[in-house]
Amino acid sequence: MNIRNLLNLRVRAAMTAANIPENCQPMVALGKNPQHGDYQANCAMAAAKLMKTNPRALAGRILENLDLSDIADHCDIAGPGFINIKLSDQWLSDQVNRLGKDIHRGIEQAQQPQIIVIDYSAPNLAKEMHVGHLRSSIMGDALARIFEAQGHRVIRQNHVGDWGTQFGMLITHLQDQIELDSDVKLADLEVFYRESKVRFDAEVVFAERARGNVVKLQNGDDDALAMWKRFIDISVAHSEEVYSKLNVTLKHSDIYAESAYNKALPGIIKTLKDKGLAVENQGAQVVFLDDMIDKEGDPLGMIVQKSDGGFLYSTTDLAAVDYRCNTLMADRCLYFIDARQSLHMKQVYAVSRKAGFATDHCTLEHHAFGTMMGEDGKPFKTRSGDTIKLSALLDEAVVRAMQLLSDKASDLSSAESAEAARKIGIGAVKYADLAKTRTNDYIFSWDSMLSFEGNTAPYLQYAYTRIKSIFRKANLNAELITGEIIATEPAEKALTLKLLQFGEAIDQVALDAYPHQLCSYLYELSSLYMKFYEVCPILRSDISVEIRNSRLQLSNVSATTLRSGLDLLGIEVMERM
Ligand code: ARG
Repeated sequence: MNIRNLLNLRVRAAMTAANIPENCQPMVALGKNPQHGDYQANCAMAAAKLMKTNPRALAGRILENLDLSDIADHCDIAGPGFINIKLSDQWLSDQVNRLGKDIHRGIEQAQQPQIIVIDYSAPNLAKEMHVGHLRSSIMGDALARIFEAQGHRVIRQNHVGDWGTQFGMLITHLQDQIELDSDVKLADLEVFYRESKVRFDAEVVFAERARGNVVKLQNGDDDALAMWKRFIDISVAHSEEVYSKLNVTLKHSDIYAESAYNKALPGIIKTLKDKGLAVENQGAQVVFLDDMIDKEGDPLGMIVQKSDGGFLYSTTDLAAVDYRCNTLMADRCLYFIDARQSLHMKQVYAVSRKAGFATDHCTLEHHAFGTMMGEDGKPFKTRSGDTIKLSALLDEAVVRAMQLLSDKASDLSSAESAEAARKIGIGAVKYADLAKTRTNDYIFSWDSMLSFEGNTAPYLQYAYTRIKSIFRKANLNAELITGEIIATEPAEKALTLKLLQFGEAIDQVALDAYPHQLCSYLYELSSLYMKFYEVCPILRSDISVEIRNSRLQLSNVSATTLRSGLDLLGIEVMERM
C-alpha cells in the first residue's frame, strides 16, 4: 500500500476513535513544508466546521488517538489544526528495500479490476495524421499503459473517421489511379486528398461520379465498398507507421471505426424517438435537453439525423457510448479529444444518459486538451500555412537529436547513436507535450524540448544513463548487490521518500488523467538523484562496503523507477548516450 493510502487509513481510524463522523475524510497530503513533516493530515478543519467545534482542539483529539509508532518519528499540530507527520528513517529504509523487490514497482494493484475503454488517437482517414493528432495519441496511450500497470483491463478504441462524403471523392480518384496502375501506392495521402478535391471542384463528371459513389457506399454496393476498403487500408497503414515511430501501443485490432456503427444508427434514432427525446425540426431529427442551452439561454439542439435521412458524427458517438457501456461493459470510458469538441461531448454524454445508452455505473470522461502552438503563438503550421504531418515532425525530431548527440563527446558506435537519437528525439517530442498541463495550449519549441537541462526527456534519459554508467564503470551487476539500503544522509532520505511516492503519482494520474503529474514526479526524482549523487560518494575508496552497497541499491531502485515511469509515458531509455 502506498504511504498516502496507509496514512489515510490510520488517520481515519483515529478520527473514528475521536468520534468524528464517518463522512469526514482524513485528507492526507504531501507536507507543505518538508521541514515540518513529510505528510500532513488536513481533516481537522473541515471536520471541526461540520461539528461546530475548535479545529485545533479537534486535531489534538485525533492526534491522541493516532497510532503511527511503527511509521513516524513524530507528529505535531501546526497553524489552525494541520497534523504534520514526520516519517521515521528506519521505516523509510525498510519500505524502499521492499520496493526494490516489488514486481509492481510500488504501483498499487486494483482490488477490483475495472474495464476501462479509452478512445484516443482517432484520426480522420481521409487525410494523413498531422501534429493535431499527437496529443490524443500519446496521452491516451500513457493512460492505457498506466491502467494496465494497475491491473485493470483496458480496451483501446481507435475511433477513426472512415465514413462520410469525402470518401466518395477519394475513391473516385483512386478508381482512376488503379486504372493506370493496378498496384497503386499512395505515398502521400495529403497530396492525394488535394488532387481529389481539385478534381471534385473543377470536373463536373468527376463530381457526379463522386456523389454517385457516396450513394453506392451508403447502399452497401460491393464494388464501391471494395474500393473504399482499399483506400482505408492504405490510410490505416500510414497511421500505423506513425504509431510505430511514436511508440504508441495501438494495434490494428484496436481500430473500431465510425463505419463499424453504421448498422446500429437506425436503432439509435428509433430509441431516441420512442423515448420522446428526438423531435422533428425542419425535417431533421433533433434532441433538445433542458440543461443544454447556449450563451443566450436558448435551447441547444443536437442534430442526430439530417433531413435527407443521413446520420452524423453525433449519432455515431451515441452508438459508440451504447456499444462501450452495454457490449464492452465498461466501468469507465475515457475520451482524449481536443477541447474544441467539448460541447459536442457534453451533449453526447447528456443524451446518452437520458436515452439509457450509458449504464448508470459507467463514467463518461472527456479529457480535453489545448492546442499545440508555434513559437509565434498561433496554431503550429508550416511557413506556407499548411498543417504539419506528424510523420515529418517525428523524423525531424530524430535528425535534431542526432545533431545534439554529435555535439557531445561520445564513444557510441554509429548504430548505437542512431538508436539513441531515435529515442531522444521521439522522447523529447512526447515528453514536452505530456509534461504540459493538458488543458492549456502550449508552444512547441525544439530548443527547449531538446535541452539536457530542465524538465525534458533528454534530462531524464541522461539521468538514467548516469546511473547505469556507475554500474558499468565498476563492472557491477546491479542484481547481485547484497545488503540493505540504509538511508541516513538527508539527500538519501529525500530520494528514498520520493521513490516511495511513485505509486501515489500513478494513482493521481489514473484518477484525473493529467499525465504531467507523472512527468513532474519523474523530474523531481531525477533531480533528487542528481543531488544525492553529488553529495553521497559511492565508489570512493574510503566508503565502507555497507554504505557503498546501500547507495548502489538506492541507485538501482532509482533507475528502475525512472525507467518504469518513462515506460508508462511511452518513452524509451538507453544504457548509454
Ligand atoms: N475523428 C475525430 C477527429 O479527427 C476524432 C474522434 C474522437 N472520438 C470520438 N468518439 N468522437 O476530430
